[in-house]
Amino acid sequence: MKVLVIGSGGREHALVRKIGKSSRVEEVFVIRGNEAMAREATIVDIAEHDHDAIVQFATEQAIDLVVVGPEQPLIDGLSDRLTAAGIKTFGPNSSAAQMEGSKDFAKALMAKYNIPTAQYETIENKADAIQYVKQHGTPIVIKYDGLAAGKGVVVAMDEATAMDAINDFYTEEHAKVVFEEYLEGEEFSLMVMVNDDFCIPFDTIAQDHKRAYDGDKGPNTGGMGAYCPVSHISDDMIERTNQEIVYPVVQAMHKEGLNYFGILYVGAIVTIEGPKVIEFNARFGDPEAQVLLRRLETDFIELIEAVENKQPLDLMWRNKTICGVVLASNGYPGSYDKGHVVKGYDYQTDYIVSALKQEDGEWVTNGGRVMIALGEGDSLQEAQANSYQLVEHIQCDGMFYRKDIGNKGLV
Ligand code: AMP
Ligand code: GLY
Repeated sequence: MKVLVIGSGGREHALVRKIGKSSRVEEVFVIRGNEAMAREATIVDIAEHDHDAIVQFATEQAIDLVVVGPEQPLIDGLSDRLTAAGIKTFGPNSSAAQMEGSKDFAKALMAKYNIPTAQYETIENKADAIQYVKQHGTPIVIKYDGLAAGKGVVVAMDEATAMDAINDFYTEEHAKVVFEEYLEGEEFSLMVMVNDDFCIPFDTIAQDHKRAYDGDKGPNTGGMGAYCPVSHISDDMIERTNQEIVYPVVQAMHKEGLNYFGILYVGAIVTIEGPKVIEFNARFGDPEAQVLLRRLETDFIELIEAVENKQPLDLMWRNKTICGVVLASNGYPGSYDKGHVVKGYDYQTDYIVSALKQEDGEWVTNGGRVMIALGEGDSLQEAQANSYQLVEHIQCDGMFYRKDIGNKGLV
């Protein structure tokens, strides 16, 4: 079969590689991909937002399956367009993608169906927001309602930070902003394959590192590194998360008529009251996809078909720990410059690439998060040591990385 992957980052590089390994797949296309994928997929020069051209290409090429990586095209309705044209698409329709696209939508659904999450209030008026913070005090979590590439969330430990966030988010007197109770605990990322009222939750979870700097300091990012499995979060806790969050939310989405088909990313936190939802995403996590797909043994196409046919499937995993360290451009998640020469990459499969391009025969940086080094081992310690060795192998004067990816699993 012919598969088309939509997206250009590290998650899509991981998807392209995993899908390409399926015995069922003859050819993988990617729109628009990045040059590091050139040996693993046919890169198609169509813009990700050009839905007309994507539908036309998929129709002309008789693509059997489209897998949409990022959230933006899902929210913009690419899945609806492809499905209407008779092309099977793994990735939710635009209303279902509101689970990620609107924090207010997701919070309201959780409130309606009693799914455990932080208390919240959506406030549309700046003056009310200021008063709310003065009344409730800090810590408080402030989330912009729309998409913000992981940068629309401020965890304010003091009032000054909260007021800065309010000034940032309410560019006018009115904006939709969610104010949330601050939850304390360890976070983990659980991917769930969903088809309407049926789901297959991954039984291996991953742990991301959202803050930019060591020790969980600095601003939130899209994710600076991840590892799996997360052995110190017990199977019982995952089972509890499935019973209290995953199955109820899948039924809730079904009752609301969302007709979800794709991956639902459950960002959860282990509190003293049990697991609670921090966020949902309508897609695979990045960098969670890079570590999980490296460990997953099950054919990804067979997994999609199982969930499509509502057939339970036991996932098979390699008996290894995977640790992924992200190399990002200096300045990320703020402004950064591109075009720094990167030496040591050379298409090695221990790296998955988010944003590199070739210029005069050399690889140069071309985005915020640039690449991830994937170390593996029989223990997290070994996987971590191997990933940092791979990081050291890369030479570039324009990138930084966290030095503590995986440490939470070592204590
Ligand atoms: P989100 O984009 O909603 O996942 O938020 C980004 C990060 O902010 C999360 O991974 C958490 O580290 C932090 N965060 C979000 N919501 C809360 C909350 N209610 N309590 C504590 N931390 C939070
Ligand atoms: N790594 C977090 C996310 O994909 O949203």
